[in-house]
Amino acid sequence: MRILSGIQPSGTLHLGNYFGMMRPASELQEKGDAYYFIANYHSMTSLYDPAERRRNTLDVALDFLACGLDPKRTVFFRQSDVPEVTELTWILGTVTPMGLLERCHSYKDKLAKGISFNFGLFAYPVLMAADILIYDSNVVPVGQDQKQHVEVTRDIAIKFNEQYGETFVIPEPQIRAETAKVPGLDGEKMSKSYGNTIDIFGDEKALRKKVMGIKMDSRSPAEPKPDADQNIAIQILKLVAPPEAARDYEDRLRAGGLGYGDLKKALFEHYWNHFTAARTKRAELAANLDYVNQVLADGAAKGRVVAQKVLQRAKVASGLD
Ligand code: ADP
Ligand code: TRP
Repeated sequence: MRILSGIQPSGTLHLGNYFGMMRPASELQEKGDAYYFIANYHSMTSLYDPAERRRNTLDVALDFLACGLDPKRTVFFRQSDVPEVTELTWILGTVTPMGLLERCHSYKDKLAKGISFNFGLFAYPVLMAADILIYDSNVVPVGQDQKQHVEVTRDIAIKFNEQYGETFVIPEPQIRAETAKVPGLDGEKMSKSYGNTIDIFGDEKALRKKVMGIKMDSRSPAEPKPDADQNIAIQILKLVAPPEAARDYEDRLRAGGLGYGDLKKALFEHYWNHFTAARTKRAELAANLDYVNQVLADGAAKGRVVAQKVLQRAKVASGLD
């Protein structure tokens, strides 16, 4: 079974990225042969600063390796180090109906926000389809928001196979119900684009301030809260704390008597401790960039072998050979 996922280097990684994608991805590397990459071509649709792209790309590599990605088990690389994927993007684009892309939520959301579209941003899901199909991927672990893009990938693969004969493996999205949508500081989906994130790594003081800023209602501490399970701090606590500890806080909040300030302080401590080992690992990696670059170079070399084989299959099928 081949597992594949990607993440854009478009900013600092947050708890939504970690629990929605990176942790499931790290766990899956035990179950099959895993391919994970940093989607730097994708980041070009919305980020125009070269130095920032370089820095973010390295940051994602450090974050991912610090958070449990094992380069001995996993092929880990930069998307642009396997440029075959752009050739496949063109080929797939020719069997992709406009309507399929126009129906994507991410396209409609961006349109509604008045974001002006470049061709790359519109064609984004076709590049994502090429990412998935070029490695013969079976399973794609992602958060809920990317599910539709994997469905688009399936549609494109099926269309190509119908047109030119069996060429591509049809992939399945894999979404974990419990972490499909990690809430942010305001209760909306945690996302860089909403400015409501809690980062995985960063300055302790600034992060404490963020956690203490989680939005709460104005009920008094003494008041019982039958909706304790809906509380944002409780929901995040369930991810970062041992289950008994999280349950204990939830029970105390429900019964009344636990203040929101105390709850948020506890959340910060558990969150901070949850990533202690990863923080140490990250500092070690940051002091050994030659190693990190070698991991990415080795990953790209392995990925390219598969990508060239699958691309050639598509070229033969469609008469480009
Ligand atoms: P953002 O919304 O911050 O821009 P990305 O779109 O770069 O995040 O997401 C990278 C990966 O992390 C994707 O697989 C996505 O589904 C997952 N992800 C992002 N935010 C969340 C969240 N709040 N809950 C669960 N998964 C998430
Ligand atoms: N579009 C994904 C995101 O923004 C990143 C991505 C690019 C991806 N190519 C992929 C995810 C292929 C899974 C498979 O999060």
